[in-house]
Amino acid sequence: MIKRTQMGPVSKFLMGRIMDGQLIRAMACYYIDGLLIDSGPVHVAGELSEAFADIPIHTLVNTHHHEDHIGNNIWFQHNHDLGPALAHSLAVPIIEKRAGQDIPLPAYRVTTWGEPPASRARSIGPEIISENFRFTVLETPGHSPDHISLLEPQQGWLFAGDLYFGEKVIEIHMDEDPNIMLNSLMKLLRYDFEFLFCSSGKVLQENARQAIVAKIAFWEEERDKVRYLCKQGLEPEEISDRLYGPESPRFDRCNRELGKIHLVKAFIKGIQS
Ligand SMILES: [Fe+2]
Repeated sequence: MIKRTQMGPVSKFLMGRIMDGQLIRAMACYYIDGLLIDSGPVHVAGELSEAFADIPIHTLVNTHHHEDHIGNNIWFQHNHDLGPALAHSLAVPIIEKRAGQDIPLPAYRVTTWGEPPASRARSIGPEIISENFRFTVLETPGHSPDHISLLEPQQGWLFAGDLYFGEKVIEIHMDEDPNIMLNSLMKLLRYDFEFLFCSSGKVLQENARQAIVAKIAFWEEERDKVRYLCKQGLEPEEISDRLYGPESPRFDRCNRELGKIHLVKAFIKGIQS
C-alpha cells in the first residue's frame, strides 16, 4: 500500500505491506521540491510507478540503512534516472552490499519489508540544496550508528527518520542505543524547528520541540529507575518485569529483536561504558 498525503510543499508517502487485511509496520517517505527522503520497503515496488508518476525527483537521501528505508533505491535510480543515494558514510557499504556487509535479515523482516536489492550510494555532505530549500544534514545516531536527520531551518522542518517514534517508548530494538539516542535528541533541541516529520508517518505540526523535551525527560526518568534497581542487585529481566511487565506478543513475533528488555539492558550498559 502507498498512500500520499500533501502537507503544503511536503508530500508524505505512507508505505507498507497489507497482510490478512492489516497494514503491517508501515513507514513514510517524504518528498519535497525534488528531494526524496528514503525509498520505502521493496514489497511496495509494484505500486511505485503509479504513486510517483507525476513526481520529478533529482536527489534521493537515505536517513539510515534499514531495509524499509532503502528497499526501492534501485527502482528510483532506474526509473527516475537518479545518481547514487546520499547517506551517512557508514551506511554506504551496507546499501551497496559490499563484500562482508550483506548481513542476512531475520525471516520476520523479510516478510514485513523485504530484502533490499543492492543499490548505489555515496556519502552525504553537510547540506542538500533544492530549488527552493536548503537542508542541513545532522548526524543523529542511536537508532542506528548511521542515522541522519534533515533540517530546513527557514521552514522549521525537521525530518528525523526513526529517531523519534513517540514519547513513552519502552520497547526498543536490540541494536538501538537509547543513551546515544538521548544525546541525538538533545542535539536536535539546539536547532529551531516547528514541524517534526517521522518515518513512522507521525507528523507533529505543533509542539514538536515539547514532544522531544518530553521524550528526553521520560527516558531519563526510566534510565534512572533502571540504574537504581540494577544497583540494588536486580537482574535485567527482573527490572524489566517490575517496571514494564511482560513482553508484548510481538516480542516473539519479531524474533525477540523488539522488546522492553533491550531498553533495560541498554540503560545498564550505559552505566558501565
Ligand atoms: Fe530504522
